[in-house]
Amino acid sequence: MVVEPLLCYSMRMDLLRAQNEASELLAEALAPFGVSGWVRVASVGTWNVGGERSVPLLDGSIVRISHDERGAPFALGMDGTEDYNLLVSLTDEKGVAACAAAQTDCSPDLRGLGIDLASPEDFAGERGEQFNPLIFSASEQRVAPMLADDEAFGFAFVFSAKEAAFKACAAPLRRWYDKYDEELAFDLTEFELAAPHDVRGTLRNAHAARAMAAMGVRVRIVRREVCGLACTIAIAENAKKGLGTVSK
Ligand SMILES: CC(C)(COP(=O)(O)OP(=O)(O)OC[C@H]1O[C@@H](n2cnc3c(N)ncnc32)[C@H](O)[C@@H]1OP(=O)(O)O)[C@@H](O)C(=O)NCCC(=O)NCCS
Repeated sequence: MVVEPLLCYSMRMDLLRAQNEASELLAEALAPFGVSGWVRVASVGTWNVGGERSVPLLDGSIVRISHDERGAPFALGMDGTEDYNLLVSLTDEKGVAACAAAQTDCSPDLRGLGIDLASPEDFAGERGEQFNPLIFSASEQRVAPMLADDEAFGFAFVFSAKEAAFKACAAPLRRWYDKYDEELAFDLTEFELAAPHDVRGTLRNAHAARAMAAMGVRVRIVRREVCGLACTIAIAENAKKGLGTVSK
């Protein structure tokens, strides 16, 4: 009888801590753009309302999130159409869901946002030995040990960087399809962590690299441990803008 409330309390504390840690990371990512953003963290399923997500903010308002035809989330405005001034990204891992958002109205150079959580245990032990060399490029295998003391954590960071980068390209891709008929298909496997803070579309099969060039974006990332998970936030920024690096 006593244990259950204690467990609930401890879980709430962890979610709150995760939310604070991820919020600090987002603030770091957004600092070069001078824009504001927020992260909310909850148990998986908390925000599900039909096919949408309803994310409550601290001021009591709600942000409604729908998905485009590729599954990428976008915020809905009061009129039920996409709110072009708010970038959103979602992730869930081990029962924890996170939603990151950034206000873009005063920075046209901020084009896309991606958040991802990954578990180090997925890249550890025999499983890691077997799959890490298959999943990660030679360059990523070189970068992974630079990202954490623990090898599996390093690979989790690399993996989350690629996923966050893929997600950050979703909003620029939607804007592309608003304007052009031309297909710009690319997938997750075409992203490579080229350097600790720089994810590129690789030339392995040219689609992602070509898409990023066509959309005029490059992807920068920041990372930190969030409640035992590898958390990466990716920013797709205007490739032509010479902003300072977004790095720790
Ligand atoms: C997008 C993807 C990276 C998500 O990774 P994941 O480990 O499955 O799951 P995560 O918990 O980290 O993220 C899930 C969230 O990603 C978001 N998402 C899904 N597809 C997305 C996309 N194309 N772009 C951006 N975000 C996307 C969704 O919001 C989803 O959460 P929700 O269903 O609650 O809304 C993964 O689904 C994937 O690899 N998709 C590949 C699809 C692809 O390559 N398609 C080719 C398109 S041309």
